[in-house]
Amino acid sequence: MRIDIVTLFPALVEPALAESVIGRARARGLVDIRVVNLRDYAEGKHRVTDDYPFGGGGGMVLKPEPLFAAVEALRTPAARVILMDPRGRLFTQQMAWELASAKHVLLLAGRYEGVDERVSEMLVDDAVSIGDYVLTGGELPALVVTDTVVRLLPGVLGCPGGAERESFAGGLLEPPQYTRPEEFRGARVPAVLLSGDHAHIERWRRVQALYRTWRARPDLLERADLTEDERRLVDGFKRGEKPE
Ligand code: ADE
Repeated sequence: MRIDIVTLFPALVEPALAESVIGRARARGLVDIRVVNLRDYAEGKHRVTDDYPFGGGGGMVLKPEPLFAAVEALRTPAARVILMDPRGRLFTQQMAWELASAKHVLLLAGRYEGVDERVSEMLVDDAVSIGDYVLTGGELPALVVTDTVVRLLPGVLGCPGGAERESFAGGLLEPPQYTRPEEFRGARVPAVLLSGDHAHIERWRRVQALYRTWRARPDLLERADLTEDERRLVDGFKRGEKPE
């Protein structure tokens, strides 16, 4: 898979892609990530990429020409072109799975007060937001999307199937995890996890996942695939019951 990130600040983006899981995936050739300087596609001696907004108002707006030139030079027939934009569709794990099956994703990082609207209208397939808050630019959102997608690619995570099992994959948040020591500052690891009884452990984890999701993200429970018993458990939580 290839991912291009088009930005005015390549030096902001590159280091985050050189380390850890993503850095190793690149080094092993599991993903081809290219960070592209938008200024290389700007015209004229000064390679200007932004200008004042028509109609007045504060701030600067990214001009359409460099973005069109960059996308037209980089895009392949299979490319999904995505503008990072706080007004876009909210990024989810579901979207990450969809993008992970694409051959080529082109992420455009906006800057300044915004991007000329013709980019959204005529150039991109989608505009994506990583949350209901405004950052200074699309670089961090492009990194969030890249990280989320790359770790789903075959061979990237050490543990096969790991990504399928984790939070959101089944519509619930993950249950608590513990490692050594068994006791830390008086807090013991739940006995069930040390019991070796795998059926019991699986049941405990599912109940914990339900409880956590109910407490932190009850909206996810509305859409989760739950059995009758699990729905009853959630009704219990609503009445103040706690898991074992
Ligand atoms: N650019 C600025 N804020 C953003 C956000 N929340 N998501 C995507 N791109 C952005």
